[in-house]
Amino acid sequence: MKTQWDLPGFTLDISLLQSNPETGALKAADRRLREKFSSGQIGFYDLPKKLEGIEPETSAKTAASLKRDFEAALVLGIGGSYLGAASAVEAVGNTEFPLTWVSNIDPAAIHKATAQLKRRKHAAVIISKSGNTTETLAAFYHFSKQLDPKGFTVITDPTSGELRKLARDNGWTALEVPPNVGGRFSVLSAVGLLPCALGGVDIQALLSGARAMRSYLDECSPANNPAYLFASALHFADTDQGQGLHYLMPYWSSLFLFAQWYVQLWGESLGKITPAGKHVGPTPVAALGTTDQHSVLQLLKDGPRNKVVGFMDVLSQKAALPVGEACFTPGNSAYLCKHSFEKISHEACVATQQSLTNSGVPTYRLTLSKLDARALGALYFFFETATAFAGELYGINAFDQPGVEESKKLLHGALALV
Ligand code: PA5
Repeated sequence: MKTQWDLPGFTLDISLLQSNPETGALKAADRRLREKFSSGQIGFYDLPKKLEGIEPETSAKTAASLKRDFEAALVLGIGGSYLGAASAVEAVGNTEFPLTWVSNIDPAAIHKATAQLKRRKHAAVIISKSGNTTETLAAFYHFSKQLDPKGFTVITDPTSGELRKLARDNGWTALEVPPNVGGRFSVLSAVGLLPCALGGVDIQALLSGARAMRSYLDECSPANNPAYLFASALHFADTDQGQGLHYLMPYWSSLFLFAQWYVQLWGESLGKITPAGKHVGPTPVAALGTTDQHSVLQLLKDGPRNKVVGFMDVLSQKAALPVGEACFTPGNSAYLCKHSFEKISHEACVATQQSLTNSGVPTYRLTLSKLDARALGALYFFFETATAFAGELYGINAFDQPGVEESKKLLHGALALV
């Protein structure tokens, strides 16, 4: 079985994971999944192709007009209506048109955002697929008084929900979340594209990375599909080896939100009850290298053998940043001066993976030769496809979230009754 791939945007090495899935099982899961795609029941797989032209243009035009009339934007949304866009802007965006994100609604977060709104003239982008999420609506109601409604843009379901109704009644600009694309799978729709365009991400490059990944995966047979084999290896680790804690540890701080996006995608999609009533699903965890080499690494290496650790390495950015000479005579660590921070970070990643391998901890590695929008688009699409495939292996619906919906209803009931 192939275990190393040179994919669009990054390389993947799962040779240190155990799994030898049966071709028949891969083919059957592939058939079930493709049926969901071709019937139109599940839409994320078609986003990169469908969006050629129309959607990026709408997002780009809306972004250009907001940038013309405002100095910054407030972006409201939570879960899948936040993490994809925020992770992309954090990784490959810029701060030329500053974005004030409000995802959580504790009073301190609200006060902090209020202070930002006073500094610059903000537009507001309000994102909620259902259009009814309490946190997002509460934040929108609160901030609306401080903002110019001409700058309100909502991204929501084409027909239903409170946000859609408000947009219709008030004539605000409104973009659509395709009904067959779930929140955590929506980063390549307007949900991700508009905030990305505002935040300086090259959205055409993002989509072209996703398109390149889709073309690559479509050309593979199920038994050679890297997204399927990656999902199978993690599924096997969880269900056969008792390794259900799935860490993802990028080595660049700007990718930590990507790891949190992965946590939502892998956890909310796969943590389910099977038709036979069994509770299943891995527990994804976000970690950060090298920072967490000085905290959870000890646990990963010598603690319970219930973990898989994924390393996410970036080889270089435009120009390597040297440590350089110190303003004093260095001691025994003088050799550091001649290295770059990229080199130290990379070697730390390699050393840590080796150390875990020495202890028999299963690991895998994603390596980006460059952290840019194209690589990121390919990564989003790869992880979404792997997650969808893992759902078939677990025998659950990877695309719903009944637990999240129940808590939304309970919250709504509690507040509406008071
Ligand atoms: O992935 C999901 O479906 C959820 O996490 C939602 O994104 C989250 O609950 C926010 O929902 P909405 O976009 O409807 O406000």
